Amino acid sequence: MKTTEMPALSMPETTLDLSHHLSSETRARKPNPMKAIWRLTRRKPNMVSLANGDPHFSLYPLRKMEFEIASVAEENPVMSWRLDSKSPSQTLTSTVDGPCALSLKTGLAYSNGAGLPEAQRAITELSNFYHSPQDHMVTLTLGNSDGITKCFRLLGEPGDHFLTDEFAFSSVTNAALPQGINWVPVKMDEGGLIPEELENVMVNWKPEQGRKPHVLYTVPCGQNPTGSTLSVERRRKIYALAQRFDLIIIEDDPYYFLQYDNNSEKLSADSPFMPSFLSLDVDGRVMRVDSFSKVMAPGMRLGWITSNATFYEHLVSYTDSSTQHPHGFGQMLITEMLSAHGWGLTGFDKWVRSLRAEYHRRRDFCLDLFQREVGATGLASTNPPEAGMFLWVRVNIEKHPRYRCDMRRGDQGGPQTNVAQLMEELFECCLDDGLVVMPASVFACPADSKHSDQENPIEDRLHYLRVTFAGTEDVMREGFSILGRVLKQFFATEQK
Ligand SMILES: Cc1ncc(COP(=O)(O)O)c(C=O)c1O
Repeated sequence: MKTTEMPALSMPETTLDLSHHLSSETRARKPNPMKAIWRLTRRKPNMVSLANGDPHFSLYPLRKMEFEIASVAEENPVMSWRLDSKSPSQTLTSTVDGPCALSLKTGLAYSNGAGLPEAQRAITELSNFYHSPQDHMVTLTLGNSDGITKCFRLLGEPGDHFLTDEFAFSSVTNAALPQGINWVPVKMDEGGLIPEELENVMVNWKPEQGRKPHVLYTVPCGQNPTGSTLSVERRRKIYALAQRFDLIIIEDDPYYFLQYDNNSEKLSADSPFMPSFLSLDVDGRVMRVDSFSKVMAPGMRLGWITSNATFYEHLVSYTDSSTQHPHGFGQMLITEMLSAHGWGLTGFDKWVRSLRAEYHRRRDFCLDLFQREVGATGLASTNPPEAGMFLWVRVNIEKHPRYRCDMRRGDQGGPQTNVAQLMEELFECCLDDGLVVMPASVFACPADSKHSDQENPIEDRLHYLRVTFAGTEDVMREGFSILGRVLKQFFATEQK
């Protein structure tokens, strides 16, 4: 087979040596030797390879792939697309040998762990467009779940302590537990993780607690589940703490493009996006994890990690020996879409700004409904989220006739209230009435007692529910009507 593929991106110098953060698993991992040989076939054009068992493209049962995508010529492309099945579209075509941004011949072949160079280049430009990172490299992933768990493997040693939001996205925090990573929760408020609390944990860390935390995993925009967004000021403070305490920040940001504006009546298309941790990073200590799940479709299973060059090399090596690069179909679609044949970066930007306007509209619709159906009962309240897809609903559990706050005996630790029990009952009542919500207990950071606040344990702060405004108006109408009704019945109950 003769190879003429695009060369890989060149590697920048790493600003600071952060290799002491790498896990022993990462250090012990040997590069996949077959991939090393495979890469040599890209050393110069027209190399003759008898080395690899790559099926020849003439045997792929595919000649052409067409994707019909929305046109971004409209002023508000998402609204036109959503409301009118005949709204203008654009067809992206990939053929075996082009002309196209990524041919079937290349797109469907085996590739580098970082992704096909064409896709990697297109996504690097996207990352540069929004974050202008210094000296970082982009590795493609199968979405953020894959990206984050790869970062955990890269950095996490059995017995290590990682910091995270006290209510965290449990899909991934749970994934770290069997690896022997212990979570240390950091207190939050409506503005997300509180920098002073992070500082407290680090300053008061005692040697008998084990190795000092060296990684912070956080979701800065529309945090899942609390919907909170870190202000620029908090981001700067957290980054300064990361420098002071030598922390790596894993910035999980799938809701980056869904940022709203609570200060102006109407969100404008040009409202800026908040600066990411990546854009503040001068040391190379931010690993930013992005996904197409929320702006394209979750089933695409495509995302990317932007990291310093040393971490990049290890991520690629891990990927080469595990999942390998993401599927060619998604990479082809994204590469075509971001090319001059498709939307280009400007068109992508127009789409995501139009998408955030749509979610902003849904958020406002949801807040109105919430106020009418649930807030009006006086039994629950919420704050307007500045990003993302979730409302964090505070249930006024202290109004329940069976609420107790005197359960702790003597100076023993543990919960003082029966909040956890009452919230479990409320959850069951919702289910009985046909409504599923996410209880806060699902997201309570899975920390052991050594690392949780014994004075103010999380069990006493579980009186929250996560609800989403990602669905249709009909679903929201029905859901909030049930929630309001169930709350009224539940709070009227004297005895179970
Ligand atoms: C905070 C957070 N991280 C990661 C993910 C997973 O994203 P992906 O579909 O890219 O794996 C989600 C999805 O809901 C999320 O909310």
